[in-house]
Parts: sequence; C-alpha cells; structure tokens
Amino acid sequence: MAAPAPAGSVPLMDPKRVYPSWGPEAEQALVRILREHSFVKGPEIDALEKEAAAYLGVARAIAVDSGTDALYLPLRAILDDRPADRREVIVPTFTFFATAGAVVNAGGRPVFADVLPDTQNLDPASVARHVSARTAAVVPVHLFGAPADLAGIRRACGAHKPFVLEDAAQAIDATVGGKRVGGLADAAAFSFYPSKNLGAAGDGGLVTTDDTALADLVAALREHGSTKKLYHHERVGKNSRMDEMQAAVLRRKWPHLAAWTAARQAVAARYAAGFAGVPEVRLPAPLPGTTHVYHLYTVRAARRDELLAHLKAKGIGCGVYYPLPLHKQPCFARFEPAACPVADQLATEVISLPCFPGLTPAEQDQVVAAVRGFYGR
Ligand SMILES: Cc1ncc(COP(=O)(O)O)c(C=O)c1O
Repeated sequence: MAAPAPAGSVPLMDPKRVYPSWGPEAEQALVRILREHSFVKGPEIDALEKEAAAYLGVARAIAVDSGTDALYLPLRAILDDRPADRREVIVPTFTFFATAGAVVNAGGRPVFADVLPDTQNLDPASVARHVSARTAAVVPVHLFGAPADLAGIRRACGAHKPFVLEDAAQAIDATVGGKRVGGLADAAAFSFYPSKNLGAAGDGGLVTTDDTALADLVAALREHGSTKKLYHHERVGKNSRMDEMQAAVLRRKWPHLAAWTAARQAVAARYAAGFAGVPEVRLPAPLPGTTHVYHLYTVRAARRDELLAHLKAKGIGCGVYYPLPLHKQPCFARFEPAACPVADQLATEVISLPCFPGLTPAEQDQVVAAVRGFYGR
C-alpha cells in the first residue's frame, strides 16, 4: 500500500493506494502496446471480453468507450425499430445524469420514477404507475453499489414486459442470490471510469447480455453500424470502441477486484459498528439476499448541510450524490416529469463518507469521531 493522505485529512477516495498491487504488471503491458502500436481492436480487447463474460456469468460482453455508451448502445438497439410514440424508458430520478442522458441521446423519452428511501433504488410501485404499452425499457440502477429490486420491478411491469437494462456502473461484483449483477436482466451496462470499483486509466465501459443477436447489434453500433461487410453500413452507429491500453489495465486490475470489494465491505461493517447509537445517521440498507459493494458509502443524515461543512472543516472528504434529482434538471423539463417526493427528500439528506480499499482503521476512526462529535454522541 502507498502512504496514506497527510495527517489530519482523510480523502473521500484514493485509488492510488492500491496501485502497487497492479501497476507494475500493467506498466509492462502498456510498454508492449506502445512498442507494437497495437492500439485498437487487438488481443487485449478480445481477452477482456471473454474474461469479463466468464466472470459475470453471461454469454457475451462487449467492451466500449464509457459507461455512458454502455447504456446508449443497447438502448439504440431496442429503440431504433420502435414507433416514436412507444419509446418511453423508465429510469430512477435519483441517479447519475448518464442514466437518462443516454435515453435521450438514443432517441427515447425518459420517464422519471421515484425511489425507495431505504435502498435509494427504483421503487417498483412507482414503476407500476408509469409502465404502459408506450414503455420500451426500464433501466434500474444499482445505486452506490446496492442491487435494485429487479424481481419487484419485473412484477410491477406485469404483462407489458419491457426490456430491462441494468445500470451496473457503480455495482460491479454486487450479487443477488449469489449471482453477480450484470447477468440478472436482458442486458447490463458497466462503467470503468477511474474512480469506479474497477477503474481503467481513462474512460471505459462494458455491455453484458445473454442475447447473442443483441450483442452482435451492440458490437456493430459500436463500430458505425457495420455488420456484414467492412464499409457497408446497415445502421448508423458511432465509434464507441474501447482501446487496447484500457483493456490491458482492466485485465491487470481485475484479479484484485474480489479483495477490493471485500475491503470496501469491511469498511462498511466498521462504520455500522461505529455509528451504533447515533440515530441521526441512517445507514445503507441493502435488500435481503443481496450484497452491496459500497462504491459510495452513503448515509442519510440529520442536518446534512451542517454535517458536510463540519466534516470539510476537519479535512474529511465527503460529498453529496446527488444534489438535484433528474426530474428537476432543466434539460428534462420538456418531458414533463411527475413529482418524485422521496428523491426530493433524499437529495437533502444524503452524504457519502470515505470508503475505499486502503482506507486505514485510524482514518476511519477519525471519520466516525467527527460524525459522532457533530451530534454530541
Ligand atoms: C449510475 C451511473 N450510470 C452511468 C454512468 C456513466 O459512466 P461513464 O462515466 O463511464 O460514462 C455512471 C458513471 O459515472 C454512473 O454512476
């Protein structure tokens, strides 16, 4: 492990701390790629796709240039052939912008559903209120690393049976009934943004699915929609390829993912013990039968803004994910979103605390003491 942050301050995240475990091996691979000039469509991508599919328990994995395009490409595949008035896509309003941005860019109409206060994930009852014959797809997000209630969402959709695309950008390695997210619905999108639980050395993403026809279409859309013959295009796609260097880095980091996930879960367990007897702090509450991978350790806190200022003054990294739900974003006003009161409330309560592999117990004690001190506990 590299040295922790300067005395007195605790970062919200610090991916550099685990660099020694994977960096030297990746450096060798990167030098080889540079010397060979094998920058795109090479063996690292092929190997990454095979290894990722095996790890995630799916038939196919398609490496792409970002989590955003990992959402956009399957949405394009689903929406392209549907009439314009049947392109609604239900998304949770409490998520990162890309979940809904990808819907609009793919030619769909986002329909914002509310979330549950405890899990902060899509509320099946809200999905039931919005689903109709116009619904092409639902995109449940496994927010902060906690699996959404996919079974409940499917039940809520009843006979409409829309396509279900997991937004697993924050949740690689999380499980439901022992099975990893990414293989639990019709398709899934992962992000390898550098701060993610498995991050590349730049942008990257992955689409997973058991549907080989869909996988072929996504792979074609990733490369300007050319399916049968080079320079012949059945669809208009774009360039959404992942490059060899990102694949090389991800392959050297992947063997460490399980240990990093366990380290995040140990930090979370320590917080749960540390915040016992502090009713002002409500802890993450994953659904029974699921495992949470704590991409962010997000609690609901009384007097959140004051707590935020208090922690920042003490040099403790913390953040608000997310301060403005998507149904309130000016760019989505034209879709006339319905009210989502739970998300509105959460946006005033949530605060994310330091949680990452390499966080020391002493640093964590500092965070716990600062929070307890704020509430006089
Ligand atoms: C929930 C969610 N969806 C989608 C994305 C988009 O991923 P990327 O930043 O790799 O485009 C992110 C990442 O920030 C995310 O957190």
